[in-house]
Amino acid sequence: MSNIVTVIAPVNIAVIKYWGKRDEKLILPLNDSVSATFDTSVMCAKTSVSTHPDFVEDQIWLNGKEESFSNPRLQNCLREIKSRAVAEKTITEDVLSWKVHVSSENNFPTAAGLASSAAGYACLVSALAKLYKIKSDVSSIARLGSGSACRSVYGGFVRWHAGSKPDGSDSIATQIADSNHWPEMRVLVLVVGNTQKKVSSTVGMKISSETSELLKHRIQHCVPQRTEEIIEAIKNKDFSKFAEITMKDSNQFHAICLDSYPPIVYMTDISHSIVDLIHKYNDLSGETKVAYTFDAGSNACLYLLKHDVPKVISLIKYAFPSTSPENFITGLSVAKEEINTDILSKLCIEPMGMDMIKYIIHTKIGEGPTEIDSHLLDSNGLPISKIKKI
Ligand code: DP6
Repeated sequence: MSNIVTVIAPVNIAVIKYWGKRDEKLILPLNDSVSATFDTSVMCAKTSVSTHPDFVEDQIWLNGKEESFSNPRLQNCLREIKSRAVAEKTITEDVLSWKVHVSSENNFPTAAGLASSAAGYACLVSALAKLYKIKSDVSSIARLGSGSACRSVYGGFVRWHAGSKPDGSDSIATQIADSNHWPEMRVLVLVVGNTQKKVSSTVGMKISSETSELLKHRIQHCVPQRTEEIIEAIKNKDFSKFAEITMKDSNQFHAICLDSYPPIVYMTDISHSIVDLIHKYNDLSGETKVAYTFDAGSNACLYLLKHDVPKVISLIKYAFPSTSPENFITGLSVAKEEINTDILSKLCIEPMGMDMIKYIIHTKIGEGPTEIDSHLLDSNGLPISKIKKI
């Protein structure tokens, strides 16, 4: 067998949010969720895995720094991969007993609410699955690393089925539509803060499940219908329906955070001023042209169609001025457009202080994890750093 495999894996951002677990250990959610997978050419995690009879212990390096392998989520993923390999009879007992080395990097800020754990665990599990020649669906194994990671195992638009079995075998991700289905769809990630979130998703959703009445209402009465509706909207490429559901679901998720006891606050004043701007712009346009969604952090993720990108960027640049405009946008290139003065006067907005939005990542919908041959481990199984940061 080839004893080193390297994979790049995508970030995904949910449009129907996962918030709350029915099983903490197996990471089984209380509700279905839906997400879009972003292009790995702009944002990705990259992971190399290797196994060799000479390795003395399992070791992992994250962004070049060695971390403990005793993390239970990491252990669960490796154990599950190995038991799948046994069940599928893909490798010998001998190889199974060899230790593994893992080196992983993200090309975007870790733990800034940019779904780094989703990309990271999807990458790790996909790389291990290739190393151990596993053929079956591995979304349920990625789920053991971080719930949202199961959706990064597929490209395009993805649904994570909550499932109902106690062992979690039906809590898997499936693809709704592939990455070419809606080629006009674009994403702008507005990076508001680079700081680590105050309450992790894991802790936050535990507090919400234990204390929020609104969470119970959402799961019973809102998510099932919204999930069906947004899947229809995706299939029919109905942007305004897609956008409306996305925004309502993000707002409801943050309302649940506030309904939790003690309350959890992820959005900041800047996040709220982004929400205001998008609603004003949609009202003025006479149709819903942009959708926002916020995860467990202050950064905004905007979904919009390709032909609206230059105009929306010119508006954001006006409303959130930057001291370094030449570095303000990374990712896909975008045609320069001057702000339309007519729109400005109708919107009645004043620019905020400088650098309230640090930078924007411009990306699109992309494919799932892909194997590449530029490795992060050398022939001795030690880490080498090569990834280009954005
Ligand atoms: C707000 O998947 O990070 O991004 O399963 O505990 O690791 P754990 O949580 P995680 O939660 C993601 C929450 C969210 C919504 C979503 O991605 O659906």
